[in-house]
Amino acid sequence: MSSTKQTVKIFRGDLASGKLVDYQVDVDEGMVVLDVVHKVQAEQAPDLSVRWNCKAGKCGSCSAEVNGKPKLMCMTRMDTFRPDEALTIQPVRTFPHVKDLVTDVSWNYGVNKKIPPFKPQPKNPDGTWRMYQYEVDRVQEFRKCIECYLCQNVCHVLRNSSKFDEFYGPRFMVRLASLEMHPLDAEDRIKLIKDLAGVGYCNITKCCTEVCPEDIHITDNAIIPLKERVAGRFYDPLSLLFRLIRGDKS
Ligand code: SF4
Ligand code: SF4
Ligand code: FES
Repeated sequence: MSSTKQTVKIFRGDLASGKLVDYQVDVDEGMVVLDVVHKVQAEQAPDLSVRWNCKAGKCGSCSAEVNGKPKLMCMTRMDTFRPDEALTIQPVRTFPHVKDLVTDVSWNYGVNKKIPPFKPQPKNPDGTWRMYQYEVDRVQEFRKCIECYLCQNVCHVLRNSSKFDEFYGPRFMVRLASLEMHPLDAEDRIKLIKDLAGVGYCNITKCCTEVCPEDIHITDNAIIPLKERVAGRFYDPLSLLFRLIRGDKS
């Protein structure tokens, strides 16, 4: 098996005093970025902190910024970089930093709890629920989310504008879409999507879609339909008139 020596710069320490530290690593054929981090941890820096679980692109734990781009380290092959290129591995930036490559993403779990869960409609008279295959396919895309929070990390509303109190972020627009587009769900979340989840803050730049490792079309398939539902409920003159007649103040 061929092996090449490569310089890898890994962020070490905390945000106040931390810095990029150079490591020389023998990179073997087939290695991914997470292998390199593990090799540094095993051979040169046993106190290096990194979060990972599955090494298969399914747990969403190993998110980092590799050469400035948000990536899953376990799914980023080393042969996508030139051997003479210094590789930079840094923690994701949008959430509070803990140590080395570890970031505290617990804000996301709090947001998740604010979303009313699936509320099933009553069953059909024959005791069944039925969905068309296209309805299954539509929500299936959203169920692929592995909660890596790379989309949350790049969203400028969170990253640059720090609207953590006003905007749930693209990952939770995906969760809201999976519930709102589920044909058997009876909960009404449109007002929450407008007021608390803050869908109006999204300006559809698609940065979230670009970094999603599951290829979920976050903006086109989740956020835009949610915006349309909010517009239909709150800004469409006819539906406003009907709601006034019905005395619906929501
Ligand atoms: S498209 Fe919307 S949610 Fe996605 S990154 Fe841009 S502003 Fe954020
Ligand atoms: S939507 Fe994509 S980028 Fe966002 S958390 Fe889920 S898998 Fe990660
Ligand atoms: S270790 Fe699970 S997604 Fe990378």
